[in-house]
Amino acid sequence: MRIVRRYDLSKDVRFFQVRALEMERALKMQYLPGQFMIISLPGVGEAPFSISSSPSRPGLLEFGIRRIGVVTNELFKLKENAMIGVRGPYGNGFPIEKIEKHDVIIVVGGLSVIPLRSLLLYVLDNRDRYGQVTFMYGGRKPEDMLFLRELLELRDRDDLNCLLAVEKDPDGKWPCEIGMVTSLFSRLKKIDAENTYALVCGPPVMYKFVIDELLKLNIQKHQILMTLERRMKCGIGKCGHCAIGSIYTCLDGPVFSYWDVLHMKDLI
Ligand SMILES: Cc1cc2nc3c(=O)[nH]c(=O)nc-3n(C[C@H](O)[C@H](O)[C@H](O)COP(=O)(O)OP(=O)(O)OC[C@H]3O[C@@H](n4cnc5c(N)ncnc54)[C@H](O)[C@@H]3O)c2cc1C
Ligand code: FES
Repeated sequence: MRIVRRYDLSKDVRFFQVRALEMERALKMQYLPGQFMIISLPGVGEAPFSISSSPSRPGLLEFGIRRIGVVTNELFKLKENAMIGVRGPYGNGFPIEKIEKHDVIIVVGGLSVIPLRSLLLYVLDNRDRYGQVTFMYGGRKPEDMLFLRELLELRDRDDLNCLLAVEKDPDGKWPCEIGMVTSLFSRLKKIDAENTYALVCGPPVMYKFVIDELLKLNIQKHQILMTLERRMKCGIGKCGHCAIGSIYTCLDGPVFSYWDVLHMKDLI
């Protein structure tokens, strides 16, 4: 694929928009929010990255990539028009059809906004198929908040409750909530728990606190879905890097329900 556009989302995370070389192939590519692709750079290596774009906007794939090691360092050196290898989509993704007709609460922390942005855009592009939609996103500081301009604009929509929080606001210019992502639960509108799916992704420390809040709201365990990152290599169930017991997170995940998590030790 060719890099069409790239720009910085924060000091160490860069947005990459890529497109298959042949337009017909680009338009035919199908995937689900929550799935991931493996990006490869010949002679360097490959690594998995969540898809951040929505399948409702065909032709282009988008990623948010943090510079952390061998592959990402080289990826950050590439300019627009450079070519990269992309294979996938892999993983199970979110069950978007099962979630239809339900209220949706998305709760994300830090970098995990990247895969959940795909779901948010999908739900907004198919707005009449979903009930009340709430998006809660927490980060450390305003400059760490990815896709910030896009999300601030979404706060103007009447059909979305878009709630943003930072833990610290050193410049005093942050226009939204100050606190942990869990502080946003006090701004949640009244929900019909039986008819609600909650979708959660964040650093491991966040899960316990967020899930406690969701359980307090009486959301059912099988309707709390989370996308979990494990070390992965092949992405196709061959290498065993992502295995937990008999589960391969690259095939059976990365999306699991809270019910699965309770029954599989070490999943988080
Ligand atoms: C399903 C999935 C989706 C992902 N989505 C994204 C995404 O959207 N954006 C993004 O920036 N990254 C994402 N990652 C993480 C990304 O794949 C790793 O950071 C990858 O190692 C980067 O490759 P690298 O060669 O630059 O780093 P490496 O040189 O491989 O590693 C750098 C350092 O990171 C550590 N590391 C490697 N993988 C992980 C991991 N999974 N968790 C914690 N530490 C790790 C290594 O031990 C090493 O210390 C995802 C991972 C998975 C499994
Ligand atoms: S990453 Fe190789 S088996 Fe899952």
